Amino acid sequence: MSKVDLEKYFKPNLKEARKRSTDRIEELKFQLSDAHQKIGVNKTYMIHTYGCQGNEADSESIAGILELMGFTKAVSEATSDVIIMNTCAIRENAENRVWGELGRLKAYKKTNPDLIIGLAGCMAQEENVVERVLKKYQHIDLVFGTHNIYKLPEYIETALFSKERVIEVYSQEGEIVENLPKVRNHKFKAWVNIMFGCDEFCTYCIVPYTRGKERSRSKEEIILEVQELVEQGYKEITLLGQNVNAYGKDFKDSNYTFGDLLHDLDQLDIKRIRFTTSHPHDLDQKTMRAMKDSKHIMPFFHLPVQSGSNEVLKKMNRHYTKESYLKVLNELKETVPGIAVTTDIIVGFPGETDADFLETLDLVEKAQFEGAFTFVFSKREGTPAAKFVDDTKEETKKERLYLLNDRTNAGYLKGNQRFLGQTVKVLVDGVSKNNDDVLAGYSEHNKLVNFKGDKSLIGQIVEVKISVAKTWFLLGDLL
Ligand code: 5AD
Ligand code: SF4
Repeated sequence: MSKVDLEKYFKPNLKEARKRSTDRIEELKFQLSDAHQKIGVNKTYMIHTYGCQGNEADSESIAGILELMGFTKAVSEATSDVIIMNTCAIRENAENRVWGELGRLKAYKKTNPDLIIGLAGCMAQEENVVERVLKKYQHIDLVFGTHNIYKLPEYIETALFSKERVIEVYSQEGEIVENLPKVRNHKFKAWVNIMFGCDEFCTYCIVPYTRGKERSRSKEEIILEVQELVEQGYKEITLLGQNVNAYGKDFKDSNYTFGDLLHDLDQLDIKRIRFTTSHPHDLDQKTMRAMKDSKHIMPFFHLPVQSGSNEVLKKMNRHYTKESYLKVLNELKETVPGIAVTTDIIVGFPGETDADFLETLDLVEKAQFEGAFTFVFSKREGTPAAKFVDDTKEETKKERLYLLNDRTNAGYLKGNQRFLGQTVKVLVDGVSKNNDDVLAGYSEHNKLVNFKGDKSLIGQIVEVKISVAKTWFLLGDLL
């Protein structure tokens, strides 16, 4: 490739991404222009998705747009005309995997020189990633970020017909885009975005930079989407946002919040309502009460704590203490008896001492989590914590992770054991990974349940009596 004119690209800028306006973000309705309707006819696509449920939901929209343009799903990479990598930036190892995959995809350009390879998602929002693509990954044709998925038809058109490399990443969010077509990956469980972005700025986290300012979808649009899902036979929805408890805070002319939304959605005929992720600092009584009084909201709560040390929590900018976290948690458990609570924990945050870590273990004991995602701190360029002095040995961090996992695994087991001998309601997902005669699904408390049954039950809610409780799953008999 000749010397690239870097100025013609829209590249991300983390400083810009940090900025927050106080304006309410406008809505925009997606519409495919006539010129883009048939571009994909007789062509195929493949999407690889990394990271959180937010990315999975975005990939469903990317697929929806491509199919509206006429593309069909490819059966293999070798026969794809477009391959999109929808990426995650949360930790370095997630990124390294993507770099490896991007390198691997280069070979397909030899057999199919017209292949379009696209990089999307949170990695595309990072300055250093785009620089690296420009310098070393000439075979990537298209880079777009989390804020401009709706412009994909234009980008595909340019990449296909003018053979120009397209690099267009917006540092700041634009409008909330409604009416995006979706190809949902599941027939009876669906993701429903209720808000985008995050304004928490936990010091370790890149998400507020890659996903922009907190902005909530209107309740009317959300209710409409859920109603449509009910009509299509969906049984379960998961409401998505980086911090669902901040839903509605950006509304200028109403006090409608997450608790109100839960209450209103509960009136619809959707069998199961779940949501993720919550921030302890924004979890309010209205939300707890909406759960307590509900018919359809599942008794399960993912409430990331990150650390049990007040010193570390402060450096993380989490806005709560170990004590106030436990207080909220107890209130939640009192309001919704029997609720299962899981969490996220980071070990090895810069400056974390042995004493800090012991505080985390103590909190895990007191909180009685029934599951946890545990991570070693990963330095993310552009975040405040990347500049904090980090003098803990990698070995020590790993040891802490092992110790922590031991404790959280015991919590998983204990959480499963409490269902021994009980009858639980299971939404049947499919056959078990290891055995075709065994069905697998999730209980209301989000426990994985395996049992013998006929495949015709897939998509149904059935009753199962639990006879065995293991760390990672329950076994039982269909009633
Ligand atoms: N390093 C390690 N873990 C992180 N998380 C977010 N940022 C980082 C980071 N830089 C974890 C948090 C969050 C979860 C989604 O990922 O625990 O809750
Ligand atoms: Fe990241 Fe904190 Fe926002 Fe969660 S709440 S996305 S950890 S900044």
